[in-house]
Amino acid sequence: MNSPHASLLEYVNNNLPRFRRELDQLLAIPSVSTESARRSEVLAAAEWTAQALRTLGCGRVESFPTPGGAPLVYGENSPAGGSAPTVLIYGHYDVQPVDPLELWQSDPFRPTVRGEDLYARGASDMKGQILAVLKAVEAVLAAGGKRPAFKFLFEGEEEVGSTHLPEFIRTHRDLLACDLCLNPDAGMIAPELPTITYGLRGLAYFELRLRGPSHDLHSGMYGGVVHNPAQVLCELVAAMHDSSGRVTLPGFYDAVRPLDPEERRELGRLPMDEAFYLHASGAPALWAGELGFTPFERVGARPTLEVNGLSSGFTGEGSKTVLPAEAMGKISMRLVPDQTPELATSQLEAFLRQRVPATVRWELKRLAGGPPSISARESPGVRALARALGEAWGVRPVFRREGGSIPVVAYLQEYLGVESLLTGFSLPEDNAHSPNEKLHLPTWQKGIAALALFFTYLAE
Ligand code: BES
Ligand code: MN
Repeated sequence: MNSPHASLLEYVNNNLPRFRRELDQLLAIPSVSTESARRSEVLAAAEWTAQALRTLGCGRVESFPTPGGAPLVYGENSPAGGSAPTVLIYGHYDVQPVDPLELWQSDPFRPTVRGEDLYARGASDMKGQILAVLKAVEAVLAAGGKRPAFKFLFEGEEEVGSTHLPEFIRTHRDLLACDLCLNPDAGMIAPELPTITYGLRGLAYFELRLRGPSHDLHSGMYGGVVHNPAQVLCELVAAMHDSSGRVTLPGFYDAVRPLDPEERRELGRLPMDEAFYLHASGAPALWAGELGFTPFERVGARPTLEVNGLSSGFTGEGSKTVLPAEAMGKISMRLVPDQTPELATSQLEAFLRQRVPATVRWELKRLAGGPPSISARESPGVRALARALGEAWGVRPVFRREGGSIPVVAYLQEYLGVESLLTGFSLPEDNAHSPNEKLHLPTWQKGIAALALFFTYLAE
């Protein structure tokens, strides 16, 4: 008699070329949610996932349009019978922009294999994960044994902050009713280390515009007299951290839930030390950041403020002596429980009211965002997932917090009381959001079998 793992692995091995072809199809669709020119491609990716659900045998598949143009795709298969639990499978079919395009070694939307990796935008974040979970479901259905009931929810606005998702969840409670959610968007620490993520940071993202003179000026005629908006922006940005690496927005740390010593000890055992960040980032040295916390604590469990981009004045070839009329900064905060994007917004506004000099006018626009979350670390679902990952990898999975954001997790908790199981098979070196994003194919293959095994254990 074959073990369930062995026969699921066999199914995955036998069908791998087809799985790969399907992944290539989805990766070839440039579904960049932040670019309005890509609306029809975002729609095409939604339709691709809807069709995949129909092929999988879902009796009900529905695409709910949203004002942003990226539909929410819902699907469900026939009831599993008996007391089998219902698992909601989450995915996002949108991807990040590809720029700077010239740094890609192959076309981001023409999936290309080099070595053990498949290169394409969205390969690991998260079209590869969508395929992994769809194929795991396929394998379990083909095996014909005990299984959970499956529901699916795919969105196309995750990379811009899941704008229309909270309203949809709030108004479709019955449709989405389930025992737990499986969210494979959270990645793993290393290829040999299966990972369950239980903490995610939130995000509040802003565009700050400063306007000074009515037009660009000759710097020789006005320098020293008219306050330069680029200089003001740099001064403001510099003032957003103090000398101990703390964010200076008024009240910024007030709502931060402290880490308890027990959790600090556990997180301290993860192999995410200074050397890890130094190697993974390619930076010449690390920043000391907020005093009193390890690098992993700062990324996973402490809030931070980042400058994502700055633009002002003359940046072309050669020199042009100019005092720019405007300066713009994209500034964001990663948040931890119990901070909220709304709180962060009012704190940034208070900072700007206090600090922006009368020599410039300012305008703050709120862009993407989402709440932070902490998920249960002990439940039948967590045990089934830990067991499946452990068996597929031959080592026990580690539990960690993650510094990135996945807004749906908090919305499911808030509106449905549903906990998410967060895992995934993308690696820190997979260049998510960067040029040459990739997917490690052997890890992906292992992940498909692991998820199939998880569904089997969940139903037992
Ligand atoms: N998959 C990521 C989140 C993530 C990153 C999980 C790294 C685990 C490790 C997700 O697609 C993402 O990038 N989310 C955005 C959300 C934001 C726009 C609200 C993020 O974190 O920047
Ligand atoms: Mn993602």
